[in-house]
Amino acid sequence: MKHLIDPTDLTREETEEIIDLALDIIDNREKYAEACKGKKLATLFYEPSTRTRLSFTAAMMELGGNVLGFSDAQNSSVSKGETCADTTKVINCFADVIAMRHFEEGAALVSAMNSRIPVINAGDGSHAHPTQTLTDLLTIKREIGRFDNLTIGFCGDLKFGRTVHSLIKALSRYEGVKVVLIAPEQLQLPDYMKKEVCEANGIPFKEVTTLEEVMPELDVLYMTRVQKERFLDEDEFDRVKDCFILDSSKLATAKPEMRILHPLPRVNEITVDVDDDPRAAYFRQVENGKNVRKALILKLLEWKDDPSKSTRLIPEGTIRGKYVCRNPRCISNMEVGVESMFRPDAVHEGEYRCVYCESKPKK
Ligand code: CP
Repeated sequence: MKHLIDPTDLTREETEEIIDLALDIIDNREKYAEACKGKKLATLFYEPSTRTRLSFTAAMMELGGNVLGFSDAQNSSVSKGETCADTTKVINCFADVIAMRHFEEGAALVSAMNSRIPVINAGDGSHAHPTQTLTDLLTIKREIGRFDNLTIGFCGDLKFGRTVHSLIKALSRYEGVKVVLIAPEQLQLPDYMKKEVCEANGIPFKEVTTLEEVMPELDVLYMTRVQKERFLDEDEFDRVKDCFILDSSKLATAKPEMRILHPLPRVNEITVDVDDDPRAAYFRQVENGKNVRKALILKLLEWKDDPSKSTRLIPEGTIRGKYVCRNPRCISNMEVGVESMFRPDAVHEGEYRCVYCESKPKK
């Protein structure tokens, strides 16, 4: 069975199949109006969301299916201490596909390991957000027309920004992609992303501290919000919260065909005067999110019983029970019954990474 926990759970060909289906859905909405008749999507949202949850809901409704779930875990038996694994087993009795957002990193993986129906990761802590990546790819396809030979600048919170991690992984499969990382020192891209994703795939990247110095070279500027909810220290958040603010004057040196993406919500990192600039694609991006999620639901239901379509949830060489994850937000440190699992580091021989969240073991 196919789940979507990480963008790399889809091959490049499968990803493009979903993007192409989304394009057909945009052109022929009525053709798909009953495509999910009799099917149910469970949206299990343990963390706030506007776009992801409601676009999944709208997507399933427009496909003729039904939606059940919760938008606040406090209204579910999670508040009584039910684990992610048990909740998943219960929901398997009610639905055909699950979309889960969770503050614990690795939660969607644990859910998939306990599921007989496809699980979609709708965001797990700071780790990954693969359906936002599909949204971003569809937006790049429609706005720019290609994935190859792109220079893409990621600006803001690259440390906690799960959408950034997932999109870099997806783009690392294309030729001629260059990544520009625009962030203060405290919010730089995690080490595993630089080494295991960029360096391992030959993706050139550079780190800069001002937008102005790189603006003219960008094909895409991917802005992000500083993720207040991920900071353990409020003073640290206050020091970086206003680190990058994009306004119209800063766009003066940008290419006319450059596009500004943002997963949203924004706080103050893009001023509203930018919204009327034709290069501002972030509200068109939201609409793409609904259509690409329609395509994803259809494909996962189609692939469910295809033995050639399966997701490898536990990587080769995984060691069980030996190490403890150093990440306090990893599900292996937050829920009972989640076995410690570490896979070999793709770059450094003899080192290991947590299967749930990709952190290193505790020393
Ligand atoms: N982009 C995104 O994930 O938005 P929500 O948090 O509103 O779902």
